Amino acid sequence: MKKLTATCAVSLTALAVSAGASQALTLYCSAQEDWCQLMARSFEEATGIDVDMTRKSSGETFAQVKAEESNPKGDVWWGGTGDPHLQAAEEGLTEEYVSPMRDQLHPWAIAQAESAGNRTIGIYSGALGYGYNTELLASNGLPEPACWKDLLKPEYKGHVQMANPNSSGTAYTTLATMVQLFGEDEGFEFMKGLHKNINQYTKSGSAPIRAAGLGETTIGIVFMHDAVAQTVAGFPVKAVAPCEGTGYEIGSMSIISGARNMDEAKQFYDWALSADAQNLALQVNAFQVPSNKGAETSEATPDLSTLTLIDYDFKKYGSSDERKRLLQKWDEDVSTLPQ
Ligand code: G6P
Repeated sequence: MKKLTATCAVSLTALAVSAGASQALTLYCSAQEDWCQLMARSFEEATGIDVDMTRKSSGETFAQVKAEESNPKGDVWWGGTGDPHLQAAEEGLTEEYVSPMRDQLHPWAIAQAESAGNRTIGIYSGALGYGYNTELLASNGLPEPACWKDLLKPEYKGHVQMANPNSSGTAYTTLATMVQLFGEDEGFEFMKGLHKNINQYTKSGSAPIRAAGLGETTIGIVFMHDAVAQTVAGFPVKAVAPCEGTGYEIGSMSIISGARNMDEAKQFYDWALSADAQNLALQVNAFQVPSNKGAETSEATPDLSTLTLIDYDFKKYGSSDERKRLLQKWDEDVSTLPQ
């Protein structure tokens, strides 16, 4: 019986291949879930290629791609912060590819590719900040925070939520931003002080601000566009651009080395860089700045040119050694402290 089933399966596969019906793509997605879904379904509609999509946070996806290195299961990794994509490039986990769409992109998106031997590319960007639930803040009699260092005040104890920097690219961007903004020693002192006020480290980067929208935490440390998305969705959330200045991400895309569906992977990659595909963001309240110069930017998108941004050193903080070192130091010196 087993043999018969196996024979049937083989001939069915052969049939599917000969009919040209076996085109499929395995997509690892690290942007927000509804945007991931929309990208997958829209690519299917545009090409007839079936997409099998999984959403996981940036650090988690990096770990998965690394674990599958000798037997790759994913084809394209779309979205998520750039640092783990850069680390994957450095470790040879992703494939070199120069898309014909490249000349349609902003220089910052191309610079991301060039710094990584063309193994990744920028698809969007956005600034880090935080947001708070205005009603909860008022009902708890708390002052309005405006700076990073405000979040260390004892009155915010139990009111602040952020993700774990091991799983989440958002939280790793937070850690690397503090190190660059305040220097390594003071940056870690900040993370230790913040730890005292944290009510939960979530797995996914945007979870804290969705929790703030629902009234489950007062403050969430997230990308500003994720806070704005809650406001636009009608929740009492206010986004803050911290007074000291802040870091930012270049959300990225990479093709996985040894992808089983390499042609489809490249087709997705080119399509995802088009203005039309990037405009899909507007349908799901994804308020990042798109990398295609011809794509539309929502009026709700935080204007990065009005913010004080640090000169985030992607090369350094996206390098394998530095990312591993900072995460290990955070695990040992911060996460283990009593609260
Ligand atoms: C949200 C943001 C994206 C960011 C992503 C990282 O989806 O909108 O801009 O790239 O978080 O996710 P992570 O769960 O890794 O922090």
